[in-house]
Amino acid sequence: MKKNLFRLTVVLVTVIMCITSCSLFQSEFDKRVNHALDYSVMQLKKSAAAIENPLQFARSGNPDGTWRTTDMYGWTSGHFPGCLWYAWEYSKDPSLKAAAIKWTEALEPVKDYTGNHDVGFMIYCSYGNGYRLTHNESYVPVIVKAAESLSTRYTRPVGLIQSWNSNDRWKYPVIIDNMMNLELIFFAAKHGGFSELYLIAEEHALNTMKNHVREDGSTFHVVDYDPETGAVRAKNTAQGYADDSTWSRGQAWGLYGFTMTYRETKNPVFLRTAQKLADFYIEHLPEDYVPYWDFFAPNIPNEKRDTSAGAIAASGLLELSTLVSDKAVSKKYYRTALNILNSLCSPEYLTEGTNSPGILQHAVGSIPHNVEVDVSLIYGDYYFLEALLRYKRGIKN
Ligand code: GLY
Repeated sequence: MKKNLFRLTVVLVTVIMCITSCSLFQSEFDKRVNHALDYSVMQLKKSAAAIENPLQFARSGNPDGTWRTTDMYGWTSGHFPGCLWYAWEYSKDPSLKAAAIKWTEALEPVKDYTGNHDVGFMIYCSYGNGYRLTHNESYVPVIVKAAESLSTRYTRPVGLIQSWNSNDRWKYPVIIDNMMNLELIFFAAKHGGFSELYLIAEEHALNTMKNHVREDGSTFHVVDYDPETGAVRAKNTAQGYADDSTWSRGQAWGLYGFTMTYRETKNPVFLRTAQKLADFYIEHLPEDYVPYWDFFAPNIPNEKRDTSAGAIAASGLLELSTLVSDKAVSKKYYRTALNILNSLCSPEYLTEGTNSPGILQHAVGSIPHNVEVDVSLIYGDYYFLEALLRYKRGIKN
């Protein structure tokens, strides 16, 4: 009897301690999130004032504390207005709304651009968020036209949207990042775009699943195809360490992209793929949950981190946690996303106290090209804000 009472007391004390430490984590975490969002609002207001020109879009932090900018055809052009939309969504500061509109509407000519696959990033992060938040109907035809332009890069018999144009090395390169551009197409398919759009996006995802995803849930960065036969010519990397390694941002693009594709199609193969990628990603994280730039970079732990990959994965995992039915698995994705965000909101990764114009530091554009190494990147900031707002909107587990 006494023994049982003792056991019961131990169980009760343990439960109370767990609940207390969980809620302490939660309230500390909420403070960090709010602080990071307040800080982001301040950074973005400063950035909009400093850049001023609506034809220049923040891209990466320069050592002197200014932004390296891009014109509207750079692949990151939509992320700056996207950040402004998120900052407005959080703060309701009218100057941020005005800035978001200014840099979004400057991208209107991109709707006709067919020079690469990045139109999805450019137009969906900008116009897509603008439409989500304001229901401005004049944004819909821009998004639809952009999706139709992007779909011109889809050909048979390959059955995929070509990412980059052919060059000395590749004939029909498709990169894992391209999964992200499908969201634009799914939107257009539901808003009056031509009828094949949905099938193009779905087929692109099915073929990416077949040829980019390895058995263990890791991913190739670039798969090159023969445009005449549709056969795979090569599986390589451009921004990762090696052809057979796993570039962490590519893995994050895939995780996020397959999650979104499952949301849009409800085809369970995409959910299974998203989970495979997520499980691989989670298993290869270091202690603080912020990945090295490549999971197999040779000198880990003396390699650069990539906070942009962390931010993309956090946002993707938050959504994935809402789509899986197994409660324990859902919790695993949710807790991992919060752990990533908890690290990213810390002084180790937030730019506060540095001269960077961005929000997150320690991101990496491309180590093999020695471009934008260990800097702030606007797309890292974009997915960081998206993840923080997804959390605040109340994705609960
Ligand atoms: N989509 C290009 C990159 O992730 O660097």
